[in-house]
Amino acid sequence: MIKLGVNIDHVATIRQARLEDFPSVIAAAAACEKAGADSITVHLREDRRHIQDSDVYGLKKNMRTKLNLEMAASEEIVKIALDVKPDFVCLVPEKRLELTTEGGLDVAGQKKKLAAITERLKKAGIVVSMFIDADAAQVEASRAVNADCVELHTGNYAKYFKEYGAESKKFLDEAGRIRKVSELAVKNGLILNAGHGLDYDNIGQICLIPQMNEFNIGFAIIARAVFAGLENAVREMKEAIAKRQANAATSGFA
Ligand code: PXP
Repeated sequence: MIKLGVNIDHVATIRQARLEDFPSVIAAAAACEKAGADSITVHLREDRRHIQDSDVYGLKKNMRTKLNLEMAASEEIVKIALDVKPDFVCLVPEKRLELTTEGGLDVAGQKKKLAAITERLKKAGIVVSMFIDADAAQVEASRAVNADCVELHTGNYAKYFKEYGAESKKFLDEAGRIRKVSELAVKNGLILNAGHGLDYDNIGQICLIPQMNEFNIGFAIIARAVFAGLENAVREMKEAIAKRQANAATSGFA
């Protein structure tokens, strides 16, 4: 079954809105794990708008599953990653004014810098992923910098699903593009993950990609948790993924 990584940044967003010491991201991670999350993701942004350094250290100490640290390829954050030693690092582009990560990392345009950072992180025993657009050149560049994984950016996939619908050419073309690039990633020996904007309704098509290892999903789960509770929200997402995959298997599509 495709694994589920839960991004809990927005638990910290709520806490930071009042500069309080609750809700606890450690307790949130434990609730996600209890409900079957395979890993927990946090993005330590350079502006520290939600997750703080102490959260990352606290999670590393208290978690039972895998910790995935999303981060910019900046020296300050690389040093923290080398100190914390999360299980995974996912390198992402970062802009101060964006509401959330807006696109994939341009690996092809900064191979030398990213190869050097990847080497340092891997030497510390960290599995390294590149968050990239579904683009063949970016997959090949990720291989060239010796990354272990890629996380394909599903922002447009989610946007087209919402704006044009599941049957639209625009959405199905984007899903097809992700599927094709997924095959290339796996052929290049890269572990295949995907994330951004995935939710309970739009995951259908992307669950059909047989090589998919893990989804990283944040906003949809935390938003659902407001009404259903965090454990239920995670369980519902696990069930949605399992159901789509089972349908794919019985239809022979996968
Ligand atoms: N993957 C990456 C690399 C991200 O930057 C984000 C957003 O923080 C996610 C996955 C999760 O996206 P969402 O919150 O839209 O599910």
